This record gives sequence, structure tokens and C-alpha cells, in this order.
Amino acid sequence: MSRYNNIVVLTGAGVSAESGINTFRAADGLWENHRVEDVATPEAFERNPQLVQRFYNERRAQLLNGIKPNPAHLALAEFERTWKGRFTLVTQNIDDLHERAGSRNLLHMHGELLKIRCRKSGRLFPCRQPVASDQACSCCGQMGNLRPHVVWFGEIPLYMEEIEQALSDCDLFISIGTSGNVYPAAGFFQVAKGAGATAVELNLEPSARGSHFDRALYGPASQLVPRFLQSLTGS
Ligand code: APR
Repeated sequence: MSRYNNIVVLTGAGVSAESGINTFRAADGLWENHRVEDVATPEAFERNPQLVQRFYNERRAQLLNGIKPNPAHLALAEFERTWKGRFTLVTQNIDDLHERAGSRNLLHMHGELLKIRCRKSGRLFPCRQPVASDQACSCCGQMGNLRPHVVWFGEIPLYMEEIEQALSDCDLFISIGTSGNVYPAAGFFQVAKGAGATAVELNLEPSARGSHFDRALYGPASQLVPRFLQSLTGS
């Protein structure tokens, strides 16, 4: 077994790319075809809730239409099952592919596509259907209060306390499939390194902060992730 006892993994859109979900910043990525300020801010939702709900309805329908976990998701779940040390998976992704693969200690810092939230009570509801902007909320009865359970630009990511704690205790930090453009996630490797951890990047190409990692491997996640995790267990 490796010398590591406490591992934190951060994943981004790149881990789900080979499952068929577009990343954000690629040439054909989501932010090429949609303006962030139209669909991914609280102001956008105030201004045009129909457009915002439609954007997430489309994402949700796509996720539920034949998209499956790929070998990277499966390898992370299998590693967590057999690893004797502590393992925390933090994802920026709002898809449910990590949980479908079997990951358990998982923090969705940017929310979850298959949940909606009442803006008044904060209550969460599972959601696999399109949401209408004039739909009445089942807890408060009011129309327009149901919003995607997604952290938009300008909002504070979820589970920050748990994440900071895990980072400050870890001895290995692995960043997978993220461009390193969005904070606070883009700064996690520095927190981990500050705590003495080794920081590793697994990505298709060097990320914005790739040169600051202790080790970096480049290629598709479906190949890199199983290989790298096997190298940790020596199997
Ligand atoms: N394997 C590994 N990495 C890949 C693959 C692949 N098959 N395909 C793409 N990548 C890499 C890209 O090279 C890129 O560096 O994944 C990264 C995806 O970057 P982004 O599209 O910027 O996605 P992400 O880093 O997850 O974005 C962070 O931005 O808009 C927000 O909230 C959104 O959570 C998201 C956040």
C-alpha cells in the first residue's frame, strides 16, 4: 500500500467528458453556446427564469438520456471501496455520475442537477422532470420559488467547511479534469500543499495552474485515473 493516509480528490467537467457531457470551456463547451450571465447567475434567474429553467431542464434531460459513468468514475468508486485510509471526493460537477458509479464520501460543491430547491425554505426536492418557471412549490405553495440546486456565479459553494477540513488534513491531493479557472476550487491544491500534501494533476492538458503541481499526467481521464489509482495501491 502507498504511504498516503488521507486523500482528497477534486473533479471537474473533464471527468465526465468521456461519458458525453460537454465541458464548459472547450471550443464546443457550454460557455461557448450560452452566456454565463444569462443562465448561471442569481440575476439571470430574477430577470428570465424561463430561460434559466430551460437551460437546466435540457442539461437534466441529457443526463437522464443514456449518459453513464465512465472508467474514471468507476475507478474512483472502486478505489474508495478498497482503500484503507481516508478518502474524500469533492466534485464541481452537478451530474450524478460519481454516485451512480458508487462513490460514497462525495461533496457536490456546486450543487446537483437532479435536485431543486425552494428559495424560501431552502428545502430540497429530487427532480428528474422539466421544471416550469411558474410551477408551484410543494412546500410553500408559491409559484416561481423553485430554483435549480446549482451554485451560480456570485454564490458561495456548498460544504466549504468540510472541504477546508479535509484539505488541511490530507497528504495527497488529486485534481482531475478541471481547467483551474474557477475559485475557490482552483485554489484547493495550494491549501493542500500548505498542509504538506503532495498535489497531483490528471488532465487532458495542462490546466491554468498545472505547473504548480508536484506531479502532472496528461491524457483522457478514462485511462489516466484507473492507471494512477492502481499505482497507489501497487495493483
Ligand atoms: N479527460 C481529462 N480531462 C479532460 C477531458 C478528458 N477526457 N476532457 C476535457 N478535459 C479537461 C479540459 O482540458 C479542461 O482542462 O477538463 C477541463 C474542463 O475544464 P472546464 O470546462 O473549465 O470545467 P471545470 O474546470 O469543471 O469548470 C469549473 O466552472 O462554469 C463553472 O460551475 C462550472 O463547475 C464548473 C466550473
